[in-house]
Amino acid sequence: MKYLVNIRFLSYFLFVFFIFSAQSCNPSAARLPIQSSKKSIASKAMVVSAHPLATKIGLEVMKQGGNAVDAAVAVQFALAVVYPGAGNIGGGGFMIIRTKDGSTDALDFREMAPAAAHRNMYLDADGNVIKGLSLDGHRAAGVPGSVAGMFAAHERYGKNKDISALIAPAFRLAQKGFSISQQEATRLNKFQDAFTKLNTTTPVFVNKKGWKSNDLLRQKELAQTLQAIMDRGTAGFYEGPVADKIVAEMAAGKGIITHQDLKNYEAKWRKPISMPYKDYEVISMPPPSSGGIALAQLLEIASHYPIKSWGFQSVNSSHLIAEAERRVYADRAEHLGDSDFYPVPQKNLLDPAYLRKRMKSYKPSAVSSSEELSAGSFAPPESEETTHFSIVDAEGNAVSITTTLNASYGSKTVVTGAGFLLNNEMDDFSSKPGTPNFYGLIGAEANAIEAGKRMLSSMTPTIVTKDKNLFMVLGTPGGSTIITSVFQTILNVVEYDMGMAEAVAKPRFHHQWLPDQIYYEEGALGEVTIKGLEKLGHQTKLRESIGRVDAILVRADGTLEGGADPRGDDHAEGF
Ligand code: GLY
Repeated sequence: MKYLVNIRFLSYFLFVFFIFSAQSCNPSAARLPIQSSKKSIASKAMVVSAHPLATKIGLEVMKQGGNAVDAAVAVQFALAVVYPGAGNIGGGGFMIIRTKDGSTDALDFREMAPAAAHRNMYLDADGNVIKGLSLDGHRAAGVPGSVAGMFAAHERYGKNKDISALIAPAFRLAQKGFSISQQEATRLNKFQDAFTKLNTTTPVFVNKKGWKSNDLLRQKELAQTLQAIMDRGTAGFYEGPVADKIVAEMAAGKGIITHQDLKNYEAKWRKPISMPYKDYEVISMPPPSSGGIALAQLLEIASHYPIKSWGFQSVNSSHLIAEAERRVYADRAEHLGDSDFYPVPQKNLLDPAYLRKRMKSYKPSAVSSSEELSAGSFAPPESEETTHFSIVDAEGNAVSITTTLNASYGSKTVVTGAGFLLNNEMDDFSSKPGTPNFYGLIGAEANAIEAGKRMLSSMTPTIVTKDKNLFMVLGTPGGSTIITSVFQTILNVVEYDMGMAEAVAKPRFHHQWLPDQIYYEEGALGEVTIKGLEKLGHQTKLRESIGRVDAILVRADGTLEGGADPRGDDHAEGF
């Protein structure tokens, strides 16, 4: 047995070696980023993630006998290297797991407010929000959760006992480097000034000549941090030299995370939100995410209307969806926060009678009265970086993970000597009731800042079953638009009979109550529907792309269809 395991690891390392030997022996190959595939059909297992290298690493883990959770751990660490804008060890996230026997679990590895955090920490003497303080630099960071999360998931569900073997591919990618894509080069170039301004030393992401597609990104300090985690487990990150570097970085930039904050961090197992939708069961994330509750509310409302016969993005179906979203996001603003700190009225919010009452003011022929809406101002955000990946293994275990630094490259601050970016997740708290955050979302008491509390999220990692069998695994980045993207992708499959790749690629639209506006991406809704919605009284606005859904569908014949979002470098592959 031991011999067999060793053979497995040997071939695993051969795969990793293959990646790097291909790059170093053939310079022109090193200059070519791996092509992404947007649709993949496979009979056993599938990974869909934001980067081809991360997808391939997850697949290789499963080929060598690891399960979906082992693969997820490897993909999470790999994304921290190859997708630094959102993949992370300095951020946090959520994981939904459904095992082959049908049991489900939810893991919360969301960041936590440091002990010195308090409700007025981003306000000036007059009680006004100090612009940028919860977004830029050291003070914007919550205590990172990703490393603790991966170890907790692995301890409970991992099959491959040696977690360091799952981190090793990420370590090697960090140490040897990899060729960046055009999209990554563009993103890095966009934030060059911020990287310079918000760091005490020059991070590896600064390139005076500007980044180009195929440039090699090497992250030696990050490799050392990954080595420390491989050697010492969570203590390699939350204690010892890496923790010292985080605390020293805090001191250099008026941050507030302490050694004790790091030592106190723990990932939490929670009970997933589970709700029926027609023949389906939808399993998603409970607080401190708003995703599961909001998605459940949207689906319960939608189940009472003939949106299939109304047609995809018709005036009727789009109007209903926008009206449902307005009400759900208004509930989110008022009632949702970390349920360990605030009594979230989950049962009431999910009560079908309550939701019917909420829709009483819905009129098919006009927008409902805006009396219930207060004025809000909002500029669409520059970017909404988070990342999602979906995995199904050959035994039928499924994992859905959404993970984030919040904005692109988080706070833009890299821990000196440790090579990883810190999140700016503190902005997901409500710094001041009624004042919009980065995503234009407003909040109230439920999401006020408190020491040790976790900030409200929109991340919605989701698994759908049909007749008690695995049916779909999905999720997306996109800040406040996450919930509506997951909702619309589910509808695309279950109501409009689309395959996974088509459902993921379809243009989307979004309403979040405030601002009182339907945002749509290029190609969404169509001219007739837009005119129809405006006639009903909606305001509509074209915006940049919405979400990057990475999802897996179990088709009627039992094969898996991976759908990787064409909006990014996302890659679906299976075997
Ligand atoms: N940082 C985005 C979210 O958690 O919703």
